[in-house]
Amino acid sequence: MEKSEWEIAWSDCFNVGVPEIDEEHRKFISRVNDLNKTIIGGGDKATVERMMDLMLKEATHHFWHEQELLVRWKYPDTAAHTATHAQLTTQFARVMKEIEESDISFVWALKGLRLKQLLVEHLLKEDMKYRDFLREQTGYTGQ
Ligand SMILES: [Fe+2]
Ligand SMILES: [Fe+2]
Repeated sequence: MEKSEWEIAWSDCFNVGVPEIDEEHRKFISRVNDLNKTIIGGGDKATVERMMDLMLKEATHHFWHEQELLVRWKYPDTAAHTATHAQLTTQFARVMKEIEESDISFVWALKGLRLKQLLVEHLLKEDMKYRDFLREQTGYTGQ
């Protein structure tokens, strides 16, 4: 399998222009890459589960942080955005459970790819919407 299929290269087009959020996005993408590398490299289940636990904790924190900022910015679609975070968290937990229930590393690999896809889709479709909203605001200082 091509390396590129497993790794997400950070691109500046992922930037929302809020340094603390961009940093969290960057970190999360590197976590997904690490997870997929570990799975492909034959990492054991306990390691994979530990990495996923950490990712879920960080994702939960990130979503909370993002929602807090959306409220502060008076982003009009905060409720809808918050709902997509809840969906993502549910999907994440489901993937974790599926990995837990399978001892086949190929299955873990497919789930890892699925997580990557969910994350990138959210970043590109949903987070970019509030980036555009912020860009339209005059006098925005990033706070
Ligand atoms: Fe988001
Ligand atoms: Fe985000």
